[in-house]
Amino acid sequence: MEKVYSIFILAYLLGSIPTALLVAKPFGIDPRKHGSKNLGATNVARLLGKKWGLLTLIGDMGKGIVPMLLALYLFKDYPQKDFLVAGTGFCAFLGHLFPVYLKFRGGKGVATAAGVFLVLCPAALAVALTVFVLAVKFTGYVSVGSLLASALVPLLIPFLCHKEVYFYTALVMAALIWFKHRENIRRLIRGEEKSWKKN
Ligand code: G3P
Repeated sequence: MEKVYSIFILAYLLGSIPTALLVAKPFGIDPRKHGSKNLGATNVARLLGKKWGLLTLIGDMGKGIVPMLLALYLFKDYPQKDFLVAGTGFCAFLGHLFPVYLKFRGGKGVATAAGVFLVLCPAALAVALTVFVLAVKFTGYVSVGSLLASALVPLLIPFLCHKEVYFYTALVMAALIWFKHRENIRRLIRGEEKSWKKN
């Protein structure tokens, strides 16, 4: 049981690492004070350019992927393996949303969730990613892509991965992603949402 708690806590602490802040700080920019004020790849791309946004994206996805791979290895012989692996990913995701190092004020979780589902259900992630890319291309808003893709993953899992615990994990993660996008949703309704290209 201690092993389970240790991996969950490790995943949460890893998820808590504020990649966007670490990438932007050397430029003297705090993403929490500029652009959409979000600690995420979109806001870093908006403030510093695509290259730095991509670096943030890789770091935030990595925070989901690394603990998942560790959990897959450590829990491979456990009867509740699916639950433990999904739980590890969920803890990393919670770390990104509510980081212990930043008074629990973190990002919106899309990239870290993508890292988690890249390991849990790559087929669902591939379809969601396609929808994300098309939505961003046609609307110009990353938030629209994030909202659609996150809602799609739990709908796809029963068809593509057939694991109930993955479905519930994706459902709760999508709800939290939508909650974290509440300001984006208000701006979209008012026609005031920001493109990732402009401040
Ligand atoms: O993943 C975050 C994205 O959906 C929205 O980012 O900076 O436009 O609020 P932002």
